[in-house]
Amino acid sequence: MAKQYKDLINNNRLWASEKKEKEPDYFSRLSLAQRPPFLYIGCSDSRMPLDTYTNTEPGELFVHRNIANQVSLTDINFLSVLEYAVNVLKVQHIIVCGHYHCGGIAAAYHGKVKGLVGNWTNPIRDLVLNYNSELNAIEDLDKRLDLLSELNVIQQVENLYKTNIVQHALQKCHAGFQIHAWVLDISTGLIKELELPMEAWKNKGLIPETVEEDPGKNENHEAHGV
Ligand code: CO
Repeated sequence: MAKQYKDLINNNRLWASEKKEKEPDYFSRLSLAQRPPFLYIGCSDSRMPLDTYTNTEPGELFVHRNIANQVSLTDINFLSVLEYAVNVLKVQHIIVCGHYHCGGIAAAYHGKVKGLVGNWTNPIRDLVLNYNSELNAIEDLDKRLDLLSELNVIQQVENLYKTNIVQHALQKCHAGFQIHAWVLDISTGLIKELELPMEAWKNKGLIPETVEEDPGKNENHEAHGV
């Protein structure tokens, strides 16, 4: 049954008291400071609370979410979050996480979105035009939209590399963080790690040669402060 407004408050009281019972100093510890190792950039979709899918606790994910997980180079909200995460919180991982069955992706694909959301999803419309032949080669519409979700995440990671915040960090010997491209399959609850075209990005000068080839696969990487 759908929750009522009052349920949220009641659930909160219950959750807080259970948490405190298990760990009496949980909230006093939590209130001291945040040191999240992860910045999560995701879609606003209500089915995308990454902490649930990854079993992470309050204090572990620093979060920026918007429709269709865009990394917009003119979005002062996003850029402030990124700057704070990199320069102050010194996160060790930046995760751009899209998802299949994304309303923003589907709307942009069909090109029928009006108003502000239409403007916001315009960059995805560009992706549709740029990857027209790859997308059209897939007969099944859902699978075509899945590919578009993946292309969108990779494009947003490319945008992330274009920010002066990330560029500045990369110019030092250790950026201090790794960047990951994920897509979540809501129909299974599973995360898929996407390969990034690092070689192509190096060739065009977007990222320096010294950046790791396949950051997602190297479990032993020691992150250093920026
Ligand atoms: Co979405």
